[in-house]
Amino acid sequence: MHKKAKFTNYSLFVSCVAAIGGILFGYNTSVISGVLLFITKDFHLSTIQQEVIVSTLLIGALIGALLGGFIADQFGRKKTLFLTLILFFIGVSTLTQAGGFDTLLIGRFISGLAIGIVSMAAPLYIAEMSPPENRGALVSLNQLCITIGILIAYIVTYAFAASGNWRDMFAFAYIPIVLQFIGLFLIPETPSWLFTHNRKDRAEEILHKIRISQPHHHLVEANKDEDAPSKRHWKALFAPSVRKPFLIGIGVAVFQSITGINTVIYYAPQIFQLAGFETAQTALFATILVGAVNVLVTIIALWLIDRIGRRPLLIAGLIGMAAALAVLGISFIGHGQSAGLTAVVALLVFVAFFAVSLGPVAWLIISEVYPLGIRGRAMGIATFSNWVCNYFVSLTFLSLIQSLGTTGTFWLYAIICFLGLWFVIKLVPETKGKTFEEIQAFWKKS
Ligand code: BGC
Repeated sequence: MHKKAKFTNYSLFVSCVAAIGGILFGYNTSVISGVLLFITKDFHLSTIQQEVIVSTLLIGALIGALLGGFIADQFGRKKTLFLTLILFFIGVSTLTQAGGFDTLLIGRFISGLAIGIVSMAAPLYIAEMSPPENRGALVSLNQLCITIGILIAYIVTYAFAASGNWRDMFAFAYIPIVLQFIGLFLIPETPSWLFTHNRKDRAEEILHKIRISQPHHHLVEANKDEDAPSKRHWKALFAPSVRKPFLIGIGVAVFQSITGINTVIYYAPQIFQLAGFETAQTALFATILVGAVNVLVTIIALWLIDRIGRRPLLIAGLIGMAAALAVLGISFIGHGQSAGLTAVVALLVFVAFFAVSLGPVAWLIISEVYPLGIRGRAMGIATFSNWVCNYFVSLTFLSLIQSLGTTGTFWLYAIICFLGLWFVIKLVPETKGKTFEEIQAFWKKS
């Protein structure tokens, strides 16, 4: 344990630059719900065309996550972040200029690719630039930015709803793109990646800047892994010592999605309408409330994550999520259209428990459990699993409500939360305050 060490302003600065990727992730995934209404009118889109436009981004993201892992290991974390910005720029430009269904589709796919890559590259970059004692909070800055991006998308949607100017809704994303573009010129490649690519001097130089109160040799030990270069081969992904962390990372990433968070994030207005909020206006307003709770509780998570650790947050979060979903289900029994206030409160509680647990902790765990050398690719595969489940959950939600009913659907997610709880209790180790080296030593021992 290295209790006294504190992150430097430098660590905080580079983490903030990388975390801007989170704003782009959150904003671009959520803005479509507002845009859809207007592009449907302008381009006379059929229901199927609308569904394709929504889901194409998720397909792009899952492909991007896989590619991103490879690119990050091969070419470096910083270049990967640059690449995402180029893709975001092309994606957003295509969307703002779109003249019909085809161009919308291309824009959504390219934005999806960028989101998939940045969803793993940003936490990966931050994890490798953080001292172990603060890694939880710094990596979770990215999750905080995701939630801020989502909230901004909700507010922009609400504000532009009257004018229907969907091109400007898409164009808003240029602001974080420009900010991160400038920031990337001011941040270095990560020491871990430099170590694996034989640039030890430069790596040590950066380690000095990251930590202030650790002796020099410890700085180096914390980030290097002597076996790393040999791990650059694909086969290293299946080595016996990697299997357990591999399984745990994928499991946590999968549970983050299949416990249903995006039924709320993507469909909140529809759920509120099911619960009896009649006008689109009140439903949209309640949606902003969801976004705000998500942001505020994520801030609390940042404060807790390096203090009480990852496991207690996951355990408490999953229990709370299951309970909230159970109540949400009950609120629809016999009430149907007037589930009202109970439904809203249950939904907010569900989001709050997600925000303090699986939201930040899933990205954190997959950025810290893998050995150096395969970290990018392994994280890419875990992130890919997260997007596959995300795609599946988003695609099936409305039809699940039709077949199982609203109550049955939310109870199903409650059961999945319990499975997640079992998984965490059985398998996920505590990584709070540990160096990457200590985490690897733990896997080797177990
Ligand atoms: C998840 C997203 C989700 C968001 C909500 C992220 O960590 O990966 O799927 O929409 O959190 O805050």
